[in-house]
Amino acid sequence: MSVLSAILLLLLVTICCRVKATTTTKRPNIIIILADDMGFDDVSFRGGREFLTPNIDALAYHGRILDNLYAPAMCTPSRGALLSGRYPAHTGTQHFVISNEEPWGLTLNATLMPEIFKEAGYSTNLIGKWHLGFASPEYTPTRRGFDYHYGYWGAYIDYYQRRSQMPVANYSMGYDFRRNMDLECQNRGVYITDLLTQEAEHVIREKAAANETFFLMLSHLATHTANDNDPLQAPEEEIRKFAYIKDPRRRKYAAMVAKLDQSVGRIITTLAQTEQLENSIVIFYSDNGAPSVGQFANTGSNWPLRGQKNTPWEGGIRVAGAIWSTQLQARGNKFTQPIYVADWLPTLAHAAGIDLPESSLQLDGLDLWPQLAGSKDAAHVPREILHALDDVWHVSSMLLGHWKYINGTTASGTYDQVLTYRELDDLDPRNSRYVVEVRNSPASRALAHFDLQRLGQQKITSLRHSASVRCGNLQRGCNPLVEECLYDIAADPCEQNNLIYSKQHEAVLMALRKRLQEFRLSALPPGNRPSMRQSDPSLHECTWDNFLVKQPGIVPLECDYHGLPCE
Ligand SMILES: *[C@@H]1O[C@H](CO)[C@@H](O)[C@H](O)[C@H]1NC(C)=O
Ligand SMILES: *[C@@H]1O[C@H](CO)[C@@H](O)[C@H](O)[C@H]1NC(C)=O
Ligand SMILES: *[C@@H]1O[C@H](CO)[C@@H](O)[C@H](O)[C@H]1NC(C)=O
Ligand SMILES: *[C@@H]1O[C@H](CO)[C@@H](O)[C@H](O)[C@H]1NC(C)=O
Repeated sequence: MSVLSAILLLLLVTICCRVKATTTTKRPNIIIILADDMGFDDVSFRGGREFLTPNIDALAYHGRILDNLYAPAMCTPSRGALLSGRYPAHTGTQHFVISNEEPWGLTLNATLMPEIFKEAGYSTNLIGKWHLGFASPEYTPTRRGFDYHYGYWGAYIDYYQRRSQMPVANYSMGYDFRRNMDLECQNRGVYITDLLTQEAEHVIREKAAANETFFLMLSHLATHTANDNDPLQAPEEEIRKFAYIKDPRRRKYAAMVAKLDQSVGRIITTLAQTEQLENSIVIFYSDNGAPSVGQFANTGSNWPLRGQKNTPWEGGIRVAGAIWSTQLQARGNKFTQPIYVADWLPTLAHAAGIDLPESSLQLDGLDLWPQLAGSKDAAHVPREILHALDDVWHVSSMLLGHWKYINGTTASGTYDQVLTYRELDDLDPRNSRYVVEVRNSPASRALAHFDLQRLGQQKITSLRHSASVRCGNLQRGCNPLVEECLYDIAADPCEQNNLIYSKQHEAVLMALRKRLQEFRLSALPPGNRPSMRQSDPSLHECTWDNFLVKQPGIVPLECDYHGLPCE
């Protein structure tokens, strides 16, 4: 046998066995349910009693509470980090977000999670929000690895009419809802949280019938605000259930969260009905902290954490989240290892048995599947997380071990305090039978089937108690506009004791400063581009379209509430 044929034979054997490995073991379905701008404390598994989220709580109690899940503080960087496995500073998304009228997107040379799963034989589906660019078609979801997209390209839309007006300059109202590349008119007027859920259920049933393994990202509009003239929207009958909440805005928000919670229950139920739950990994989390006040304020609560969306404080970046899968050996506990949204790509690839060409992907995320799936007490992986590196607004922040560093802040420090509190007067009447509510939720009914031990009252109560964050007292404040801040975030989750001046912490401070400078050298310039007149929906038949390639109209149309397509 010649050397050449030996090599060929070797190749054949390798190819044969690879293919074999992929077809004989059924890979898990991946379902990521993403909330938009939902607060850290707007899930009742952390102990809040103003309104309940029994389905999300069931996911957390039957699975694992992601106690230290971190995300960038805004939509575009958070979604970019999830899908690319890289820091926003490494994809040009480290500054603010992509506003609809701006001609840019997530760098095209990043390989995205749906491309990787598609390559491995998965059906890849995005239902809902994209927000990673649409100025030209190559930025849009179906050109970036998703086989199917049903939803919107931009930052947000109206919950019924699917149109949006950007809060800048004088761009017109535009319609933003598509099935793949085509405008989608059907079911206009249906409440979007229900509509997106229904579409996700349809996809789940379709994949079950076709015996296809799938990756599904259900990227909700809830609980982001809609347009300025009517920011908080929920069906009247849902709002009525929260009549005991005095603040009418918070009452609507509670209804928006309730719809989102029902969505989680419906998805899990559909997975169970199609006998796919056992072979699925289900993750729920919010893309960033809630904007309690200011732009896009939705009344969401990050209590007791400081700050909110678009700030470097824990309220912006430590998000509510949970995971469930039969592959998790230990369930019904808190996963306390810090985990960052860019970790999902390598972590879920591992769970799916996909080998990653790590060098070409240049991942920042870590594979934490062994820790997640492993026993309860698996050792923490010591790690760093680059939380922010925005040299336009001069905000940088990172975690090294349990040390958190902040230098600079947003909005001149307006949102640096604790902006919310726990409402003790408006209590959900269901709270008195909380355990029953959780156990009777559709999610719990489906998940209980796979429990290692029955989820008892005591277990629920103690998990709920242990997931509450408790703050110490304010010891030494910090103003990041004029000084650097250093916190022992494990001991001081509420950022109340600035340790920067203590000699004892000099070494860790030097290490943090040094790492930040190193990240500056590897950062891409921010991809932000100035607004472009030719993007105006009035020049594109009143839609948000691929304005870099589509010929704009000559005469702007009237795009008020009635001039839009699909009327
Ligand atoms: C990705 O594209 C940017 C420009 O958008 C470039 O600066 C960067 O070097 C590229 N990175 C890789 C790995 O090709
Ligand atoms: C919006 O403002 C810009 C400049 O301020 C102007 O050139 C443009 O004509 C305006 N567009 C509309 C639709 O009013
Ligand atoms: C579904 O696909 C798997 C391989 O992915 C195969 O083992 C199984 O037999 C298929 N089931 C049906 C009902 O076709
Ligand atoms: C902290 O912020 C100041 C002001 O923006 C800047 O000059 C300095 O380089 C920053 N330090 C680090 C370590 O990023």
